[in-house]
Amino acid sequence: MKVLVVGSGGREHALAWKVAQSKRVSEVLVAPGNAGTARIEKGRNAAVAANDLEGLVELAKNEGVSLCVVGPEDPLCAGLADRMRAAGVKCFGPGADGARLEGSKVFSKEFLDRHRIPTADWRRFDRAGAAKSYLQSLGTWPQVVKADGLAAGKGVFVCADEKEACAVVDRIMEERAFGEAGGEVVIEEFLGGRELSLHVITDGRTLVLCEPVQDYKRVGDGDVGPNTGGMGVFSPTPFASQRLMRQIEQRVLLPTLHALQVEGIEYRGVIFVGLMVSDAGPRVLEYNCRFGDPETQALMRRMESDLVDYLEAAADGKLEAMDPPRWTPRHCVGVIGASEGYPGSYEKGHAIGGLEEAEDVEETVVFHAGTREDGGQILTDGGRVLCVTSLGKGVEEARERAYRAFDRITWSGKFARRDIGAPRAAFVAGRGTSPDSGEPDPLRAH
Ligand code: AMP
Ligand code: GLY
Repeated sequence: MKVLVVGSGGREHALAWKVAQSKRVSEVLVAPGNAGTARIEKGRNAAVAANDLEGLVELAKNEGVSLCVVGPEDPLCAGLADRMRAAGVKCFGPGADGARLEGSKVFSKEFLDRHRIPTADWRRFDRAGAAKSYLQSLGTWPQVVKADGLAAGKGVFVCADEKEACAVVDRIMEERAFGEAGGEVVIEEFLGGRELSLHVITDGRTLVLCEPVQDYKRVGDGDVGPNTGGMGVFSPTPFASQRLMRQIEQRVLLPTLHALQVEGIEYRGVIFVGLMVSDAGPRVLEYNCRFGDPETQALMRRMESDLVDYLEAAADGKLEAMDPPRWTPRHCVGVIGASEGYPGSYEKGHAIGGLEEAEDVEETVVFHAGTREDGGQILTDGGRVLCVTSLGKGVEEARERAYRAFDRITWSGKFARRDIGAPRAAFVAGRGTSPDSGEPDPLRAH
């Protein structure tokens, strides 16, 4: 069968790499892909942008694609999965109705409240003046201000005081720093606790839980500096005890599935749920309607089962018949190499060297993100350039390998966080602390 993966990041390279390993797959098309996806055995890039819905449907039909897998949220929110299905192409990814769980914070908060799924208390505002008066009336800080729409992960602000929060409201609503996404804001209660995110594959009736995985959102070592799309990843993560996982399933995951059914939303794809866990139990911070990036890079390295079986079963509504996927017990650490200046402005077009030498390191795979090829030379072409992933028998071994490989790669302006999977996290990884152990929280990576 032929599979089409939509997108061009590290997530899509990892998905296409894993899809290509399936014996059932003859070819993996990636639209538009990057220099890494073009080099996958059985892989081929198609020059169609991820937001060109019509072009993608056309491509899938012309190429006789059996399954389309959508990476990013924007085309899902714009209805790509609906269009594929309407054209008779099987698709892994929710329709526009399900994608609203990520596409609108107001929608997702109302959804959570309607179905009594635990989340932070919140208010919505469609005028900056009203939002600021509300902020002035508040006695508890911090508060969290969120742009309603899609903002590439940059539309959420934890504000220490009224002055900061009002400035954020102005940026979002008056200056429209995130364009149309800033038509409304959500102001919500700040939740303390530990963050945990989970990927659940679903066909709308059955849930398949993926291994726990943790990314690092801040740009700098020790979690300082601005938020990014994610600077690194490790898996498995330690602190989700069985008791906590049961709680999450009972209080969040099953109610979410039920709520989708009640609302008549047929969800066939992945739900990536961000949770805050405290003594009050797990509460939902956000839903995403797609796989995380770089979370996926670690998941794909650790998944032993054939991914295509699960993606297809979800697209077909046949997940119930599937056994849970198998995962290697080995640990994975993934280090993002970024362009100097990211997440602000940065240069593109620098020559990348050492990629093959990096993959000579034991159990190491380099997934490309912002790269392109020009006359046989691979060049940087984005803020997040690539993700070096290594496996090892513990997080420490995986980490040593990932950085050894990373250091073999060269380009002008290359940088990374140096603390991905570092001892603080590794310490807990070895012990498996429980969320209520009262220990300081080494996993507050966001
Ligand atoms: P989101 O994009 O909604 O996941 O938010 C980005 C980050 O902001 C999360 O990963 C959390 O670290 C933080 N965050 C969002 N909402 C809250 C909240 N209500 N309380 C505390 N932190 C939050
Ligand atoms: N790594 C976070 C995300 O994909 O949203």
